[in-house]
Amino acid sequence: MTYQAKAKYIGDVASQYDQKRASNIKWKHELEAVQTIVAQFDGAQSILDVPLGTGRFLECYERDQHTVVGLDISSDMLLQAKTKLKFNHADYSSSVHMIVGEAEKLPLGNKSIDYVVCIRLLNWVSEQILKDIIGEFSRVARKGMVIGVRLQHPMKAFDFFKFGVRAVLPTRHHIVSWFNFIIRSILRFVSTLKQMVVKLFFNKTKQGPRNIATGYTLHDKKNVLSLFSDLAMDVCQSILIDTRVSYLERKVKPYMFFLLKVKDQ
Ligand SMILES: C[S@@+](CC[C@H](N)C(=O)[O-])C[C@H]1O[C@@H](n2cnc3c(N)ncnc32)[C@H](O)[C@@H]1O
Repeated sequence: MTYQAKAKYIGDVASQYDQKRASNIKWKHELEAVQTIVAQFDGAQSILDVPLGTGRFLECYERDQHTVVGLDISSDMLLQAKTKLKFNHADYSSSVHMIVGEAEKLPLGNKSIDYVVCIRLLNWVSEQILKDIIGEFSRVARKGMVIGVRLQHPMKAFDFFKFGVRAVLPTRHHIVSWFNFIIRSILRFVSTLKQMVVKLFFNKTKQGPRNIATGYTLHDKKNVLSLFSDLAMDVCQSILIDTRVSYLERKVKPYMFFLLKVKDQ
């Protein structure tokens, strides 16, 4: 099964990946969350970071000398990670191995790694693929996993009260993306209108480039939590990175990091 994220991170998208995101507040919160979670591991562990991307969490792993397998489908992203490999301890680089591969079919044996870390992949895939991928993680992980995923659940009366103002007004950090969203929505509306007119009068349809943001999937919070428990994983810690709300869809969309541990650990 293919999806946009599998083919998107090549060439300039890979070489500009960090630079385009580094000033984003969510980017910083993710780094802090991974640092917080990884710091709680008991001594040096083996970690599979998938997708490794440009390797932005490698500095967290170095702190406690964890050994790392970084897997990604894009060799261009791994090349970025290799180019910026600058560790405080020169000999640490021998503890990091990078491989090109797919999260759905990990080239690793059963229970061959202590922890799996997976940030910014699962919102590109359908709920079925998410299930397959987390199933793979649970096959290879001896101790647990760290998962970042944007969920959704219906709004309750309390959520309206809690997020009311945030739903209509952008926060300080979201002001730029809020304006982007408004402008994109207007442009999309104009383009749809134009296509309708062209179709009506000239009987032609023009296929424009797809907006990559439409590739995002929001996972049902209930389903994801029950998947963790079906796989015998306990949620030991959850960190809220960012919340979006939608009055129109009556949905709350929290972006959460979970530390999951294999039961009885
Ligand atoms: C948004 S980036 C996230 C990278 C990194 N985890 C981070 O947080 O910066 C998504 C990455 O997923 C990789 N990717 C997409 N589909 C994949 C798959 N099926 N298996 C492994 N990597 C995949 C892409 O090549 C890209 O590097």
